Amino acid sequence: MEIGLVVGSHRKYSQSAKVAEFCSDFLRDKLNVSTWTLDLGQDPLPFWDEELAGGESHWAGFGQLAQQLSASDAFVFVSPEWHGMVPAALKNFFLIWSGTDELAHKPALACAVSAGEGGAYVINELRTSSYKNSRLCWLPEHIIARQVHKICNADPSENDSDANIRFVERCQHSLRLLTAYARALENVRDEGFVEQTKFPNGM
Ligand SMILES: Cc1cc2nc3c(=O)[nH]c(=O)nc-3n(C[C@H](O)[C@H](O)[C@H](O)COP(=O)(O)O)c2cc1C
Repeated sequence: MEIGLVVGSHRKYSQSAKVAEFCSDFLRDKLNVSTWTLDLGQDPLPFWDEELAGGESHWAGFGQLAQQLSASDAFVFVSPEWHGMVPAALKNFFLIWSGTDELAHKPALACAVSAGEGGAYVINELRTSSYKNSRLCWLPEHIIARQVHKICNADPSENDSDANIRFVERCQHSLRLLTAYARALENVRDEGFVEQTKFPNGM
């Protein structure tokens, strides 16, 4: 099984990337899942434009990313809450995969990140506006990394142990569930009902 993690922060060294690394380590080391990570702060994508279809020079790396997404069985999207929103880099990511099968009918776990007590707006926004044309399937479970500076740190002395264990337990439960959905939704895709050509956009 292969799971792709997408980090939605624009910052080169973000807390979201830290949380994604924690998820990736757990998937790899405890659940025996292959992982790869697209950090949009480290490797930003061009803003969507009409030249995407023609593969113009600024979209040169696009084919490789499409292949990685296609080869993935499930996804984890880790996004900070910025001004009560999902950052533009991640919204742009969802603009790109429309009417194609890279994300379609694959399960995804949403993980919001907040330095304080926020994060709920990110979950709401992802569930509302990211799946229509990509056909991504959000898990009913989601996670929110609140007080993120106090959790998931490599040096345990930097963690608030209560906050850390609360997040870690919830996060590990959700990641286990994600692998179960990944196995189940493979059967859905194999049914042969998917009509991306006839219905490229969701209603
Ligand atoms: C432009 C900007 C806007 C932010 N707005 C919010 C917000 O609305 N709610 C919130 O909980 N945190 C907000 N934060 C703080 C983030 O929670 C904090 O930066 C955290 O580290 C997650 O972002 P990161 O993954 O980019 O590090 C904001 C940070 C930035 C840079």
